[in-house]
Amino acid sequence: MSDLQKLESETLAAIAASSDEAALEAVRIGALGKKGTISALLATLGKMSPDERKTQGAAINVLKDTVATALNARRGVLKEAALDARLASETVDVTLPVRSAAIETGRVHPISQVMDELTAIFADMGFSIAEGPDVESDDINFTKLNFPEGHPAREMHDTFFFQPKEDGTRKLLRTHTSPVQVRTMMNVKPPIRVICPGRTYRCDSDQTHTPMFHQVEGLVIDKTAHLGQLKWVLEEFCKAFFEVPNVKMRFRPSFFPFTEPSMEVDIQCRRQGGEIRFGEGDDWLEILGCGMVHPNVLRNCGIDPDEYQGFAWGMGIDRIAMLKYGMPDLRPFFEADLRWLSHYGFRPLDLPSLAGGLSS
Ligand code: DAH
Repeated sequence: MSDLQKLESETLAAIAASSDEAALEAVRIGALGKKGTISALLATLGKMSPDERKTQGAAINVLKDTVATALNARRGVLKEAALDARLASETVDVTLPVRSAAIETGRVHPISQVMDELTAIFADMGFSIAEGPDVESDDINFTKLNFPEGHPAREMHDTFFFQPKEDGTRKLLRTHTSPVQVRTMMNVKPPIRVICPGRTYRCDSDQTHTPMFHQVEGLVIDKTAHLGQLKWVLEEFCKAFFEVPNVKMRFRPSFFPFTEPSMEVDIQCRRQGGEIRFGEGDDWLEILGCGMVHPNVLRNCGIDPDEYQGFAWGMGIDRIAMLKYGMPDLRPFFEADLRWLSHYGFRPLDLPSLAGGLSS
């Protein structure tokens, strides 16, 4: 067998043995690439005598064509085989249910939704947001808010206390968002117009109480802030939040150490079966506490009560969320049950705004 025949049979055998396109490409480079066996033979032609070149040249070119044809044929076979394999492995079961995209499955928790709604409403009235820590000092949570040491009003809040420190002071988990009023007044020069949404804690647990819950506090301090403005702010808030054209509100005298006078506010509603409708009916439902900031509190926070006055209110966020969205039990709010969340949660891209609709 001549060298050329040997090379031909070896190359054709290698082509036939290539099991995929990468292996075939390696054979092609080995034979026809710049440094390939057949290319090397073609390079020897220049040194041959004209006669020799005629016969050898023709033979080498025939070999080259044979190999090129074999490569193409094998490539076609391998391509088809690769496609068949893919088609077999990538079968789609068209009877399976459609899977929704991640953005469709995630849900915004009703508390987050209601906080966004509150923020949209009060921001529209010119309020900004203030925040404070969950772990608070006894002083800011109680004393500065005009709860004297040992006063029974402290006992109304079932407080989670930390161990007292050596100097006798003790930290606690804030029992309301009112300490954020104190922090704001101590740090910001009036006029002040803030809302303070956040987590609060009390040692209590039943269908409508959980040890951790949420409140939103409102605070306005100005030279002429008065109860008429407070009533207007709360009424506008209730109409916007409950998405009704009118609400009737009832202000009842009450007591909080940090306001004087103090009031509790009920809104008019109708209860039908398990449902509550606002803006109609002749039932009343308590939704918040409010009042004029007590002069002692202003003084405790470095504000002169002879120059400034203000009003404040505090409201349970969980409670108004339950009322608005018809959720009978508070506990599932914090159980992280995906079935509950996909039922009561909100679509992530439907951000509440006054222009676009709060809850639509
Ligand atoms: N801090 C009160 C509570 O948790 C709620 C409250 C009542 C806040 C009256 C206020 C207010 O700012 O003026 O029970």
